[in-house]
Order: sequence, then C-alpha cells, then structure tokens
Amino acid sequence: MKVTVVGAGAVGASCAEYIAMKNFASDVILVDIKEGFAEGKAMDLMQTASLNAFDTRITGTTGDYSKTAGSDIAVITSGIPRKPGMTREELIGINAGIVKDVSSNLIKHSPDVTIIVVSNPMDTMTYLVHKTTGLPKNKIIGMGGALDSARFKYRLAEALECPISDVDGMVIGGHSDTGMIPLTRLATRNSVLASEFLAEDRLEQVMEDTKVGGATLTKLLGTSAWYAPGAAVSGLVQAIACDQKKMFPCSALLEGEYDLDDICIGVPVILGKDGIEKIVPVDLSDAEKAKLQESAAAVKKTNGLLEL
Ligand code: LAC
Repeated sequence: MKVTVVGAGAVGASCAEYIAMKNFASDVILVDIKEGFAEGKAMDLMQTASLNAFDTRITGTTGDYSKTAGSDIAVITSGIPRKPGMTREELIGINAGIVKDVSSNLIKHSPDVTIIVVSNPMDTMTYLVHKTTGLPKNKIIGMGGALDSARFKYRLAEALECPISDVDGMVIGGHSDTGMIPLTRLATRNSVLASEFLAEDRLEQVMEDTKVGGATLTKLLGTSAWYAPGAAVSGLVQAIACDQKKMFPCSALLEGEYDLDDICIGVPVILGKDGIEKIVPVDLSDAEKAKLQESAAAVKKTNGLLEL
C-alpha cells in the first residue's frame, strides 16, 4: 500500500506520522515544492520508526512526482493555510491553481489513485479535482466532516463532562465556519440522546463552538491546526487501505442525493477499498434539510469562482 502526501507542512507531516504510527502502509511518499523540506521531514519521521515501532517507509521528494508512481491513495494538503481572521473561502485564488497542478501530476503517475483533498476551501477544491481529473467520483474524497465531527465530540464531551469515548456525533454540510451542521439532535452519550442531559442553549453552544473549531485554533496558533486534521486524514486513508467499510462524513460528489446536484459537500459515506462505496441517506429534520440547502448554496457560490 503506497500513500502519497502532497505538502510536507504541518498537516501533511502529521498525516504522514499518524499513517506510519498505524503501521498499515508499506510506503508513504511526502512531496513538497520547498527544496529539501519533504526529504527532511521524511528523514526526521523515519528516525522515530524504531522508537514508535513502525515499519512504514517514509521518503521525501522535492516535486519529483515520478517517485509517487503507483500510489494507491494520495492526500493533497498543499496550498496556503488561513491566517487569523481569514475564512477558508479567501484561499481559493492561490489554492485552486496549486490543487489543479498537483492532481494532474498525481494522475500522470498513478492513474488509478484515490485522492483525498484537504486543501481549503475544501469542498470547492474537491469539486475542482472532480472537474479536472476525470477520475471516477468514488475516488475523490474531501476531508472535512471527519475533522469537524472529532471537534464536535470534543465539545460534546466538554459539555457533558464525560470522556470523549462516551460520546458520538456527526457534522455534515460544508467545511466552513457558517456551513457546518453539527447534528446535535442525533448526538449521543452511550446511546442516550445528548439532549437528555443538556439544555437546548448548551447544545446550541456546542454547535457554535464546533462550527468555529478551526477558526478558534487559527486564532490561538497564528495558522491553521494540524494534529486533528492529520489524524482525521489518517483515519480516512486507513479505512480505504484496509477496506474497513467505515462511515465518515466526507465531501462527496452528489448527484441527486440529499436533493443536491453537481456539488461536493459533507454527507455520511462508507469508505472501503473502492473509496466512497456508498452515500448514506440520513433522515434529516426539516430544519436540518434547510440548513444543508443553505450550506450548499454557499459552497456553490464559492465553486462559481473557479475558472473551469
Ligand atoms: C481546519 C482546516 C484543516 O479546519 O480546514 O483546521
């Protein structure tokens, strides 16, 4: 199992590290445009192998995509991250060109690759990869919901004053400060609805804190987060590599599902060896349906800025 991670910045390197720590891939190739950077990160990570007991080989390259040939899965993290006060949508001008170039280089050397898009604005970048690569729709996946759901669980556990392993919850919709839809109505603590324990205004607060999860970290760190994004990507990669048939909310191309068409947005999917093996329908309330339509309208507006 060969996995390429494009972009050896904080998200890409964390993603490579978590993949290696889970020890399911034979090779991880890190690619970056900054001379020597991916090679350096790869060497540093490889020097943790004996300490962390993994056998995955991590190698780095400065832009030589021939080294990525035959990749089963590729993760695109390249582009610029947001700075405090910026929205993810503001990154489109620079990141669209980068994501287009990277995906065409990947396909050249790995025509059967499955691509996971992390670069922001993620839903629009995922749509761009669909429009420009010709890969089948099951092989293009946007990483947002898995991260947003992890942040949702963190906030739920905080409100419930319980361990995170007690809670379950999912975030659908666009990966943006206003577009995320944490499904508080369905969130649970050990199968009991979270609403049994928390008042409506506290659940509302959990929802709002989740939606600005990335922005809160960007303000604290001065740049966007990397541990949780890297861990979320590694979960998606593992689900595909190990054919786990695991359910995650991911940005998927919708063609009629959820009454949406010609858009990539976060909905629950089953991930296995064929990438997105199924889009899972969820019986949303009227209010949730309306929020999803509103979120989709905003993603479509950003998609309209692409030069396709
Ligand atoms: C975040 C970036 C990955 O939410 O979009 O941290």
